[in-house]
Amino acid sequence: MATYRIAVLPGDGIGQEVTPEAVRVLKAVGKGAGVSFEFEEALVGGAAIDATGAPLAPGALALCRRAHAILFGAVGGPKWEGVAHEVRPERGLLALRKELDLYANLRPAKCFPMLVDASPLKRSVVEGTDLMVIRELTGGLYFGEPRGVERFADGGARAVNTMAYTSREIERIARTGFEVARKRRKRLASVDKANVLVVSQLWREVVTRVAGDYPDVTLEHVLVDNCAMALVQRPTQFDTLVTENTFGDILSDEAAILAGSMGMLPSASLGGAVGLYEPVHGTAPDIAGRGIANPIAAILSAAMLLRYSLDMQQEADRVERAVQRVLEQGHRTADIAAAGVRPAGTREMGDLIVREVEAQG
Ligand code: IPM
Ligand code: MG
Repeated sequence: MATYRIAVLPGDGIGQEVTPEAVRVLKAVGKGAGVSFEFEEALVGGAAIDATGAPLAPGALALCRRAHAILFGAVGGPKWEGVAHEVRPERGLLALRKELDLYANLRPAKCFPMLVDASPLKRSVVEGTDLMVIRELTGGLYFGEPRGVERFADGGARAVNTMAYTSREIERIARTGFEVARKRRKRLASVDKANVLVVSQLWREVVTRVAGDYPDVTLEHVLVDNCAMALVQRPTQFDTLVTENTFGDILSDEAAILAGSMGMLPSASLGGAVGLYEPVHGTAPDIAGRGIANPIAAILSAAMLLRYSLDMQQEADRVERAVQRVLEQGHRTADIAAAGVRPAGTREMGDLIVREVEAQG
């Protein structure tokens, strides 16, 4: 029987509540498929700072490297707002991305038909939305040098971050974009700010060159400001988008609203030897600890883990179908419930999906 080692890093806030539900779903899937999972936990984010003083617990990186895949929750929260920049909870996640060379972040945003009315946007706008945001994850402003703050004697200061990309970094994420688009509706929008930034001009030049290898995919270049507008105006015009780190951070949050709720959106971070899977929603301090968070994003991230790291396509389908069924049956967590509907809690939603997975097994 195949055994897969999964590193589990729940992190902070609702990460600690939704990640166990994804683990339970994987266990149920494993049983049906004759595969066993070994889950090994490590601390990351604020939880790691509290216990060890560092945003990534000693041994956590090694644990991740040994694993077949990483299931990640979320990091951060008001409790750690005051800590020094270099040990903020977010640094734990950024270190993992960089150390594991997870340069390609896939963030699908699909509007489930039964959740059309959960989105604050009009039905006529969001209906039929099915897009994939591919965000470059290890370059740009997040990691560029030089960076830092200079303090002047007169009390003033100057802070710098650098948006830098090499042609190699652009080429590899562009290839991911074309490969993914090829398996979807064969349309790729490359998002940049080439009318202002030289780094975007290089981005556009490289993406255009790589396009030569993918004649079956239609490429368009979109300026990021225009893209932000088009996403809420006519999201159905897009299929696959590829963009640099910061633009992708912003646009993927925007795209989440098209899917009804951030609580629905999974993600995969790929490129290195081991993939990392995390819900897009973050720690949600406002609802953390109350058992009401939506575990679907975490569970759909587990489905992506099955698909991309373990090549268990049928099992990934099974999880996605289970989520779909439970939603069709009318079950909703608070973030996607209509007024007057009694919402299911985190655990209850997990139970429903586990049961549905078992029923299909
Ligand atoms: C995300 C988050 C992270 C990011 C934070 C938590 C560092 O917003 O994954 O989108 O900015 O990349
Ligand atoms: Mg973000």
